Amino acid sequence: MITHKKKANGFEYIHVKNSVAEAKIALQGAHIFSYKTQEDLLWLSETSVFEQGTAIRGGIPLCWPAFGMNNPQLPQHGFARTLHFTLINTEETQDDTTTLTLRLCDNAQTHQLWDYSFELTLRITIAKTLTLELTTTNTDTKDFTITQAFHTYFAISDIQNIHIKGLENKPYLDALTQKQKMQKGTISFAQEFDAVYQNVDTTIELIDTDKTTAIQTQGSHSCVVWNPWIDKCARMSAMQSDAYRKFVCIESANAYDDFKILRPKESHTLTVTFTTL
Ligand code: BG6
Repeated sequence: MITHKKKANGFEYIHVKNSVAEAKIALQGAHIFSYKTQEDLLWLSETSVFEQGTAIRGGIPLCWPAFGMNNPQLPQHGFARTLHFTLINTEETQDDTTTLTLRLCDNAQTHQLWDYSFELTLRITIAKTLTLELTTTNTDTKDFTITQAFHTYFAISDIQNIHIKGLENKPYLDALTQKQKMQKGTISFAQEFDAVYQNVDTTIELIDTDKTTAIQTQGSHSCVVWNPWIDKCARMSAMQSDAYRKFVCIESANAYDDFKILRPKESHTLTVTFTTL
């Protein structure tokens, strides 16, 4: 079942429920802010606001057409996360699979920020697994370059309980020191962590005490792992002071050297599937 809903202030979202999963997707940013089968996959800040023009804190913000400050002329993480998408298609093919497609096209506001014509679509498949396919098409007459990410906030039991497998022996940029390093062993957390992994080519596993989530990505060779820890968390918008304990971000990306140049009429799709093992 697909239901269009509105918060009291008019903020619009779509509620999806089928026989195996439930999800909520804001039209602003095509932002999935809840997805669950047995339990919630995604962390959502208790203090997040749902207001036009402000990014939701949690869920899966889309960073596009730039990750972080990869394009210094754009706002941090680009502009897609605060713009209104149009729902262009829905499919309920089986009772356990619902697919939504949302689209953002260039308009006067995007041309002010980034002077290119484009079509950006997000196809979301809500089933026992969650799959996102983000397709960028260059509808302009000149080339453009993008960086991007699914900035996924995973709900966890506690930051000290988890580790991340699949990035061992991968080079990474430590964004806190701007130094290039090599990952030794699995990742665990005892302080602020902000790293951009390169040459990523395998399934990543987020291992918690009672569940493991597999993250399979296509169309990308970079992955950002982030937790703000105590001090940065206290400084961040829409985050309670102990929120850092309850999430980790593992962001399937095309970031830094993994940028994409699209020629007129060319498309690129970044795909991610989350499976609870
Ligand atoms: C991560 C970055 O992707 O996003 C962090 O690696 C950043 O450095 C974080 O702090 C949150 O960004 P924002 O813009 O949503 O507060």
